[in-house]
Amino acid sequence: MLDVMQDALEPHMSKETLEYHWGKHHRGYVNNLNKQIEGTELDEKSLESIILASYNKGDILPSFNNAAQIWNHEFFWESMKPGGGGKPSGELLELINRDFGSFEALIQEFKLAASTQFGSGWAWLVYDIDEKKLVVLKSSNAINPLVLGSYNLRPDYISTFLDKLVSWDAARKSVSGAMIDLKPPPYALDALEPYMSKETLEYHWGKHHRGYVNNLNKQIEGTEHDEKLLENIILDSYNKGDLLPAFNNAAQVWNHEFFWESMKPGGGGKPSGELLDLIIREFGTFEELIKQFKLAAATHFGSGWTWLVYDKEHKKLVVLKTSNAINPLVLDYYPLLTLDVWENLRPDYIATFLDKLVSWDAASSRLEAAKVSIEGKRDGGN
Ligand SMILES: [Fe+2]
Repeated sequence: MLDVMQDALEPHMSKETLEYHWGKHHRGYVNNLNKQIEGTELDEKSLESIILASYNKGDILPSFNNAAQIWNHEFFWESMKPGGGGKPSGELLELINRDFGSFEALIQEFKLAASTQFGSGWAWLVYDIDEKKLVVLKSSNAINPLVLGSYNLRPDYISTFLDKLVSWDAARKSVSGAMIDLKPPPYALDALEPYMSKETLEYHWGKHHRGYVNNLNKQIEGTEHDEKLLENIILDSYNKGDLLPAFNNAAQVWNHEFFWESMKPGGGGKPSGELLDLIIREFGTFEELIKQFKLAAATHFGSGWTWLVYDKEHKKLVVLKTSNAINPLVLDYYPLLTLDVWENLRPDYIATFLDKLVSWDAASSRLEAAKVSIEGKRDGGN
């Protein structure tokens, strides 16, 4: 959704343009997609999952165009801000200088890509996760970097966009973050009631999680970790198991974000699709996975986390428990779900999480993203 008022980008982009482009064009894709997927296997999947599934390795299925256009438009609106333009800073600027020579050279390449795009499509600045560098891309119609296996930074609109509208803060946050943010849960703090109370979220997110963010920001200011991505702070300060001081705060920030995003209002139920297939292959039944997950959580000594992860080496699912702030990132697994485990749990907390709160959609999307990332790495390129 548009997080700016529709006239906030004037005079560089008019209210009429936004009303037309977002209010009609973008809305049309949403309505068409909803009609198209109703009652199909794509119903109830996340938007990213629909895009990946319907891209179908380049042999595009009918819902791809609408789904990708929705995602691309959302990403585009969020790439702009009132008072945008100017220059990026921090790690993003360093990467630009390294990969393009200068900021001006990036702008030139971006303008060239946008103005030479044949027909409709998108110009993108992306971070190529395999080559670890920034790349300017153009794509036709609805194709986007998600399906190309690159990690997305920011799409664009030629010069007005670059000079007046582009939100370099948004792009910078994608690669680094001079400050680590307290990311809110993807639902209101009372949205998990009655299974998890607003007070629990206010305490656990508003105070506990916030404390880790504030401590980490104080801790890394002016050090080599400043302006790094949270994931990189975690990996670097894990230091092959010989933990550096920033590790605990950094990993606790990441783990808590991941935990909030592992739940949703109206959660519970059963997974479907490939995730369910993998569960049955590995555990025999869904019920057996639940049993093992509950056992792992209930037998955890002290504080820590229970995880469902994808082991890329053995191509299988594993239930894992970790102590304190340790997480699957440093163990080289792809995490799919987590439950925050603390001492003196209420006895029904684990069951309530699994029956009423867990988001199997999130786990499925994470599995698909993991596979795209693994696939990209194996192919040695995009
Ligand atoms: Fe916690």
